[in-house]
Amino acid sequence: MLSQPPPYAELPPTHRALYLKSQSEAPTIETLPTPQPTPGSAVVRILTANVLSYARDIYNGKRSYNYATPLVPGVSAIARIAAVGPDATTLSPGDLVLIDVTIRGRDDPSAVFLLGISEGHSVGSRKLMHGEWRNGTYAEYAKIPLENCIPLPSPLLATTEEGGLGYTIEDLAHIPKLLVPFGGLRDIDIKVGETVVVSPATGAFGGAAVQVAVAMGARVIAMGRDSTKLSALKDRFKRSQVETVTMSGDVETDTAALRAFGPSDAFFDISPPAAAGSTHIKSGILALRHGGRVSLMGGIRDDVSIPHSTVMHGNLRIQGKWMYEREDIFALLKLVQRGNLKLTEGAGMVTVGAFPLEEWEKAFDLAAQKAGMGEMVLIMP
Ligand SMILES: NC(=O)c1ccc[n+]([C@@H]2O[C@H](COP(=O)([O-])OP(=O)(O)OC[C@H]3O[C@@H](n4cnc5c(N)ncnc54)[C@H](OP(=O)(O)O)[C@@H]3O)[C@@H](O)[C@H]2O)c1
Repeated sequence: MLSQPPPYAELPPTHRALYLKSQSEAPTIETLPTPQPTPGSAVVRILTANVLSYARDIYNGKRSYNYATPLVPGVSAIARIAAVGPDATTLSPGDLVLIDVTIRGRDDPSAVFLLGISEGHSVGSRKLMHGEWRNGTYAEYAKIPLENCIPLPSPLLATTEEGGLGYTIEDLAHIPKLLVPFGGLRDIDIKVGETVVVSPATGAFGGAAVQVAVAMGARVIAMGRDSTKLSALKDRFKRSQVETVTMSGDVETDTAALRAFGPSDAFFDISPPAAAGSTHIKSGILALRHGGRVSLMGGIRDDVSIPHSTVMHGNLRIQGKWMYEREDIFALLKLVQRGNLKLTEGAGMVTVGAFPLEEWEKAFDLAAQKAGMGEMVLIMP
């Protein structure tokens, strides 16, 4: 693990990267020219890059994500700045940064794509990914927009004796997973003391949503299919912070189970595509109070049935959210820095595997089995 900034006198002419020529071929490790800093960018040395539970299916085409190829895959990461473009004002070589994968057009912020995984949904977002910002983080070096290099406050890594939080680079890799649900929860303005239903609460992002909502001061009703996982989740929190409801698949039963805790203020969903036919979204909406809010962050591709009359008569607000806003990152870092959000094993955050670049396949396989609630698989190039 690199904890001290190495000297970045100059970038090496070449570096190693995972390289995906097309979705029909497995990626290979290649030696490529090292990216060079240009105005508006930094070149970073990747220390650790996260692996999504569905990484394999994104890169073999099973998940039908659209992205530019050939491509260096790879998503959120922790890195050190190696070199900066001439217009950098605060970032400098050696700085520890979080790589935010949400890249927006500078002249059109609605042109959004996700570094290394999705070209987004507009002509502008496609132009950005297919052109200047094609390559992701499964590499020794990556070129990243300056504004996507988020400086990590030094107390995060400083030891507790030094007055810091004593986190490792691996611990910090949990931050991007927490950021995703924070974007949706903040978008529907979750307030201290409110009750929010989170579903499904037993996955990687759902588990993170529970943790984040509690840190924001909410009471959570965690909804999921697996009662064993739900009770393990509840055990991590103080009494009354988290309640659980096991999905039965029957709308009325599940709505009544949620309502047993009183009407909820908000419903947050981050279902995978496989949950398209599940009834839990309807139950979550039916359990809301008058004026309740809904955040839909799931990856469901099909249409979902909504209780229209309840939404209309109940003045309910349904909002979709893709990722998070830039200011959300700084707000979440404050929660981490103040200790409201903990990145420790005691708080359920575990790195289940860390692999060198060459072992990317093992990383993808492990992530498919074990990158669930609180779990993290990393590639450390
Ligand atoms: N909006 C955004 O910005 C954003 C960002 C990132 C990800 N996402 C989406 O979030 C989704 C979830 O990602 P993840 O990494 O958390 O996935 P994950 O770790 O695989 O978790 C999936 C969760 O869904 C549950 N589930 C699976 N099939 C279900 C079904 N048929 N009915 C009800 N629940 C079901 C699982 O329950 P069990 O524990 O019972 O198996 C588990 O809780 C992804 O598919 C992605 O598209 C959205």
